Formats: sequence, structure tokens, C-alpha cells
Amino acid sequence: MRFPPGFLWGAATASYQIEGGAKDGGRGPSIWDTFCAEPGKIHGGANGDVACDHFNRYPEDVALMADLGLPAYRFSVSWSRVMPDGKRVSQEGLDFYRRLVDELTAKGVEPVVTLYHWDLPQALEDEGGWRNRELAGHFAEYAQTVHSALGDRVRQWTTINEPFCSAFLGYFAGIHAPGDTDPAAALVAAHHLLLAHGTALQALRAQARPEHSFSVALNFSPALAEGYGPEHVDAARKFDGMHNRFFLDPLLGKGYPEDVLADLAHVGGLADAIKDGDLETIAGPIDWLGVNYYAPTRVKPLEDPYQQSNCPLPGLRGVDVVAPRPPLTGFGWEQTPSSLTELLRWLNWHTGGLPLVIAENGAAFEDVIGEDGRIRDTARTNYIADHLRAVHAAIEGGADVRGYLLWALLDNFEWSMGYSQRFGIVHVDFETQRRTVKDSARFYQNVITHNALSA
Ligand code: NOJ
Repeated sequence: MRFPPGFLWGAATASYQIEGGAKDGGRGPSIWDTFCAEPGKIHGGANGDVACDHFNRYPEDVALMADLGLPAYRFSVSWSRVMPDGKRVSQEGLDFYRRLVDELTAKGVEPVVTLYHWDLPQALEDEGGWRNRELAGHFAEYAQTVHSALGDRVRQWTTINEPFCSAFLGYFAGIHAPGDTDPAAALVAAHHLLLAHGTALQALRAQARPEHSFSVALNFSPALAEGYGPEHVDAARKFDGMHNRFFLDPLLGKGYPEDVLADLAHVGGLADAIKDGDLETIAGPIDWLGVNYYAPTRVKPLEDPYQQSNCPLPGLRGVDVVAPRPPLTGFGWEQTPSSLTELLRWLNWHTGGLPLVIAENGAAFEDVIGEDGRIRDTARTNYIADHLRAVHAAIEGGADVRGYLLWALLDNFEWSMGYSQRFGIVHVDFETQRRTVKDSARFYQNVITHNALSA
């Protein structure tokens, strides 16, 4: 199975999940520092103070990428490292990313920069966080600052990673920072995140070079109805509406989907948050869409259509998320690669042929280190291979998929799950910081070398 010429292969990480150096280089606190310090929020009481110590070990990590033959590396910039209070620029913070990008460039690894991967400066949360409309302007200034500093070396830019998680997990489900549980606040936060994307995109376009390309990364979970009745179809529609189309459609200039707004009529907040011109700002054209995909979600209707759903979607009623079907990953997530093919083909149709890049896909499994020191992570390798076949099938079916950025390069801090879920193709011993290349990484290297996968 050959991939198109020029297909972008790489691996991904995010600042809070790998950097550590939480107090180094003048970095200010982020909402994740605060959230992790609250007892009971994170598995094992873990935090990102040290994580993979990438802040100090980045030369070693970039050397590893080169050794693995990775053509691209997707990482995120920590806003509170670059602007400790969210507004004032720290040259020291910018210098870290400059050094990282220099190192990548010197080793022939293309940097793909995400500007926001959830670590909001705490000072901005103190001003209301994403509930506060003014964050859109602050984010645009931050985006311009980073882009001015790195734009001579970085061509590929992503504004925001998974606004769903920041808004819905952070302000409604309460399982991500800042840990709020208010459905109206979650919808308002979602709108402000999209507005921040659009405002930053305009600002970046104004200072961009011709070679720069801009995107946003959304996490998609296709809804699979567990049953065949019209009410089952409607449960899937509702879930898909809130999880997928609520974020995608405004970005495409389609506005918030009418059916979702009708489902949400009983929750306040959103209508008042949308001001004149917002939807135009949000709909500024992107050059490619980052697609983060892990698993579908199985749903069925609840007997009481007014009952709040058991899933972390604000205002969603009458939908029951049911158990995933085996085989599951170590994290308990379903492995259904065909859903990825269908998603990419649907996106190709729904977006009118927008270029797509898989910005994240991968799996957490428990790793066993053999007596010879080798990690034979066959389950992870199989997950990756199956999903690459699924991507290939979508390309054959006409989807314009331009790249695949595997999650993750390194085992890392998996948010509320702490260090208990290992997604890396490189193992990290968090006691010694020793890195060990897993078999899955060698498999992936082989795919990259041949730009192909055996069927
Ligand atoms: C999505 C997120 O962007 C990333 O931070 C996270 O670690 C992976 N999915 C796995 O859950």
C-alpha cells in the first residue's frame, strides 16, 4: 500500500505532557499546574513538573527523531513559557523554542507547531479563562509573537488543539483544567476558543510568508448507533452533532449546526456569546484540517429523552454512551479502524475536499520490557498498521489526506490519567528518564522509509 508522494510522516507531543521544567526559564504557572495540585484530580497525584524532562533533554530527543528517520515532529508551545502572565513576552521562553526548532532543522526534521494544547496561563484563568471573550485577542497576540519568532523556520502551524477537550472536559465534565462543571460556561468557552482560532488566524495571515500554512486540530469520534430504530439514528445524530459538527461546521463557514442549537435550546450562554461578525471570523479559510482520531463512540437512546447523557457533552439529553466493543486498547478504547476510513471520507465530502492531516492517532498499551531490554509492543504496532491501512483506504476513496502524525513520540503525562497510559513509540522510564525505542517505532520507521505498508 503506497502513500502519495510527499506524504508527511511524523510523530507528535505537547508541551505540558513532555517538557517538565515547570519553573525553569521563567515559565509562569498554567491551569494544568494548578489543576494537578488539587488532590484527587490526577491519577497517582501526578503532575507535569518533570514529565519527560524534554526541556533539558530536547537535543537527545531530536537526535532520537533523526535516528528514527522521522520527517516531521508536531509539538506545542507553552503559552505560559513564552508569556508567563499570558501577556508579557519572555525572551527566555521564546529562546527555548528557537533552540528546539534550530535543532530540528539542523537534523532535517520538519517542525509542525501547535500554539495551544490546553496549558492556559493561570493569570488568564484568573481573568475568567475561556469564559472571557477577551482571551481571543490575547491568544492572537501570543500567536503573532510565536510566529514572529519562529516563522523563518516553521512552515506548518496549528492554532488550537482539540477545543472540545478544553471547553467540554475543562468547563463541563470537570476532568480537565480548570475543572469547572457548568454547561453554559462550557458552550461559551467553546465559542471563545473558536473565536480565538479565527482571530489568531487573521493575525497570522497578515504577517505570513507564502510558504506558511495554517490549520486547527479537532478530535473526532464518529457515533455508531447500537441498534437500528429511528431513535437510535437520532441518538447518533445528537452525539455526532455535539462532539464533531459543533466545532467543525463554524470553521467551515456553515455556522453552528441548526439541529445542535435546537438540542441545546435549554442551556443558556451560547446565543449571548455570539456577537456580530464572530462567525465570519471563525470561518477564515484554513489550509488543512488536523484530524485527531482514536476511536468511535457507541450510543443508544435513553428511555427518558430529557435525561442528561452520561457522556461529557454539555446539554446533551437522551443519549446513552454504551460500552465499547472489543478489541480494546490498554486504555479501554475501542479499536475500529474502519471508522477512521469513514470519517476521512465523510470529511472529504463535508469540507468540500479540504486537505486533511491526521494530527494524532495512536494507542496506549501496557509495555513489558523483555530481559534483553527490548519492548515487543505488537498490540501498538498492530493498532498503527490497521489505522494506516484505514487511512490508505480513505485516500483510495478520494480523501485528500496529506500526512500522518503519530501520537506519541514519547510516553508522557496523559492528563487526568497521569503517567498510567503509555502512548509512546519510545518508552520513557520516568525514574531515570531513559528512553528506549519500542518495536512499534522500528515498524513505523520502516513504513516511512518505504512510504508504504504491506497489505
Ligand atoms: C488527544 C490529545 O491531544 C493528547 O494530548 C492526548 O494525550 C491524546 N489525545 C491521547 O489521549
